[in-house]
Amino acid sequence: MTIGDLEEALKIERASFPNPWSYGQFESELKNPVSVALTAKAPFEGDEILAGYIIYWTVHGEAHILNIAVNPLLRRRGVATFLLRESFARMRRNLVFEVFLEVRKSNAPARELYRRFGFREAFERKNYYGDEDAIVMTLVF
Ligand SMILES: CC(C)(COP(=O)(O)OP(=O)(O)OC[C@H]1O[C@@H](n2cnc3c(N)ncnc32)[C@H](O)[C@@H]1OP(=O)(O)O)[C@@H](O)C(=O)NCCC(=O)NCCS
Repeated sequence: MTIGDLEEALKIERASFPNPWSYGQFESELKNPVSVALTAKAPFEGDEILAGYIIYWTVHGEAHILNIAVNPLLRRRGVATFLLRESFARMRRNLVFEVFLEVRKSNAPARELYRRFGFREAFERKNYYGDEDAIVMTLVF
């Protein structure tokens, strides 16, 4: 992901989350040395558009997925699967042994996506989102 992707990323972000990240949050992740921000692009109606993105941190063998979202026009076509596979391959090369993330309790599509990758629901963080609890999911490579 580069600064040039942020306008499109913000559109996906706002269409995807009740509390979307701001431009500044994306920008600071692009400058953060522990952060990895990847995009997937796809052809769409004769153009190339941003299909989705993933942002995670890698610190001492652990990865924390902070954000993943797919363009609503391109969901259920394997974009998130592609982003996760690519991220896991990079994580393994960087000797990551465990991945974790938070997901809203009500986010059935995301919970199902992670479950299919072998993530387990470890514990809850009460009121993590202000209006809802988070489930912490973990995957050990
Ligand atoms: C969750 C999200 C990233 C999935 O992206 P996607 O590209 O549509 O996912 P994929 O096509 O790779 O789906 C892989 C599998 O995940 C599960 N899945 C994805 N969307 C689902 C849905 N709406 N309902 C049930 N299962 C779903 C299915 O098992 C799916 O496999 P299948 O299509 O063969 O049944 C996307 O819905 C999204 O951007 N949501 C809003 C943002 C968000 O919630 N991010 C996660 C924050 S923790």
